[in-house]
Amino acid sequence: MTEQVIDRIAIRQAAGIIRSGGIVAFPTETVYGLGADATNNDAITRIFQIKGRPADNPLIAHVHSLAQAKSISLNFPDIAVKLAKSFWPGPLTLVVNKNQTVSSLATAGLSTIAVRMPANMIALELIKTAAVAIVAPSANLSGKPSPTNAAHVLQDIGGKVDMVIDGGDTELGIESTVVDVSTENTAILRLGSISKGQIEDIIGPIEVGGTGTQAPKAPGMKYTHYSPDAKVIIVREPGAIEKIKRLYADYAKAGKRVIIIAFSENSQDLTGLESYSISSAGDPKTYMRKFYGTLRDLDSKTDVILVIDVPEEDAWMAVRDKMLKASDEIH
Ligand code: TXA
Ligand code: MG
Repeated sequence: MTEQVIDRIAIRQAAGIIRSGGIVAFPTETVYGLGADATNNDAITRIFQIKGRPADNPLIAHVHSLAQAKSISLNFPDIAVKLAKSFWPGPLTLVVNKNQTVSSLATAGLSTIAVRMPANMIALELIKTAAVAIVAPSANLSGKPSPTNAAHVLQDIGGKVDMVIDGGDTELGIESTVVDVSTENTAILRLGSISKGQIEDIIGPIEVGGTGTQAPKAPGMKYTHYSPDAKVIIVREPGAIEKIKRLYADYAKAGKRVIIIAFSENSQDLTGLESYSISSAGDPKTYMRKFYGTLRDLDSKTDVILVIDVPEEDAWMAVRDKMLKASDEIH
């Protein structure tokens, strides 16, 4: 967790707003969240309205301690304790069986609840000061990429919330990994900042997607994810550079604005073309951190985004998944 200058007055004010039924956008280490008191039905209803979020897509409860996580759960199995001890505070969300504490609107009527302890000082102080679990989806409009700074939040929902805490750019840039430990069929329901490999190092082999009949997928995964207004085309090896040049020329000839997202090492091959490099192909962390922000920026500037596919490696899996969901074509 990086050190942050904490504005305690702002946090006390934000906690007061949460306690009196208001809504506060706040930073976490992954993306910004849109938070409300987990026991307040009216505030939770407002969150769904502000985001335009389907009512059957449950929210994550954010806690400041393992004890608080247990206090909203029916049971907290050994495997959950093991994972929490390994990754909390941090970008791991655990789906466990719930008790009656948290509003069933927040959990979309499910018998389970998703819970995580974020690795961000502002978020932790806010939860502790509010003295209640804070349910928070990502602070974007449904269908937009998750916000990685306060400007993104204001762009999507500014004016509709009671307060936005500006904690700068988020450290990780994509959402938490969601793991279902509510049944014997432990599964990754959503890929995120913690890789499959990192989880397997702690608990052994795990499936992505929840194949067992007992394991419901994260309801959110069935909704269309970020699909930019611009057409997004993923270009794969072999011959990615040649394919990109050809596509670029075709779209340019048709009068379209085109931008390439490449790796820094590709820039020589792409001279003369409009291209943007997020990171080197050996730096998944930087790529992850900048990915959503880059999509937001480019979407307003171009008709077509040609993006070089990322490596098929454990550390890139989550970005790969998000990129695939944002894409229209693969070449
Ligand atoms: O990093 C994150 O997880 C961010 C920050 C703000 O914490 N939050 C976030 O929340 O991404 P949201 O609402 O955008 O995504 C939550 C995901 C959805 O796919 C939802 O369906 C799933 O978690 N989820 C929530 N509760 C669940 C449950 N009880 N069972 C299965 N999936 C659940
Ligand atoms: Mg979201």
